[in-house]
Amino acid sequence: MRQRSAVLWPALVLLLAAAPACARRQADAPAAPAAGAESLRPRETTVRNVTAHPIGYRIYPAGRPEAVETREIAPGAVDRFPTAVALEVEFNTGRKDATYALDPGSPYSFRYDEGETIDLFLGSHGRADAVDLAPWVPTPQAVVDRMLELAGVTDKDVLYDIGCGDGRIVITAARRYGARGVGIDIDKSQIEASERNAAAAGVERQVKFVDMDATKADISEATVVTLYLLPESNALMRPLLEAQLRPGSRVVCHNYVIPGWEAKQAQAETMDADDGDKHHIYLYIR
Ligand SMILES: C[S@@+](CC[C@H](N)C(=O)[O-])C[C@H]1O[C@@H](n2cnc3c(N)ncnc32)[C@H](O)[C@@H]1O
Repeated sequence: MRQRSAVLWPALVLLLAAAPACARRQADAPAAPAAGAESLRPRETTVRNVTAHPIGYRIYPAGRPEAVETREIAPGAVDRFPTAVALEVEFNTGRKDATYALDPGSPYSFRYDEGETIDLFLGSHGRADAVDLAPWVPTPQAVVDRMLELAGVTDKDVLYDIGCGDGRIVITAARRYGARGVGIDIDKSQIEASERNAAAAGVERQVKFVDMDATKADISEATVVTLYLLPESNALMRPLLEAQLRPGSRVVCHNYVIPGWEAKQAQAETMDADDGDKHHIYLYIR
């Protein structure tokens, strides 16, 4: 797991403050456990530490603080809690005490929030052998359309979406511009949804969806890459983009910049979408 650099940090703080529509989704405020929930099959709730510091926290089944467990999680580690009921987690963000409710079977990550504070966010998977690049949050279709326009996608392009979710970017590039495309996601259910969506759009012969950790992918045939990942994940993907993409390839990011690629930025714009948020798009030329 990458350690945040002190140089990078001020830029990220500004970026987060400036990016209202983001892929971060916080854990929920505590809720009462559902009646009869104890009879449900236990599912694995995971808590990951994506920060550079050890984090102490307390965790217990919702409504049963007497069963509290006190833990410290090292940077990069993943704690696992098989549970049939919601869990409550308490920690200090660096500024205040916080308590959140965790759903059985869901992945969560301690990440840096604005300033030096730490918060708990929904993640996408609990695998210890792979980085959690971002939770599943779809790019609104109008933003997808504009990202592809800005990149000038044509039928000569091969577009890779890193963390493709339901495949909408790859499928739109294939349907609207005749491009070939590859979507990579670590969540098998997203890959299956992408394949169904591609078939429904009639572009299944132009696109491929791969269930794998995108940080280990071969993307060297890509002429266009799209990213809607957290800022620290864009930074993590940067060496792979630099090592594998040919000069002239376009990289389009939704909401978050690629730190260190200021000189490669060709265009940046902000638009509204039907979710009521402002969305930022950044176009880079490798
Ligand atoms: C914010 S969503 C973006 C979905 C899609 N690209 C879009 O813009 O609509 C991020 C996606 O990254 C996936 N993801 C998270 N970590 C990953 C990893 N290590 N490798 C591949 N995909 C990952 C998640 O499962 C999620 O679907």
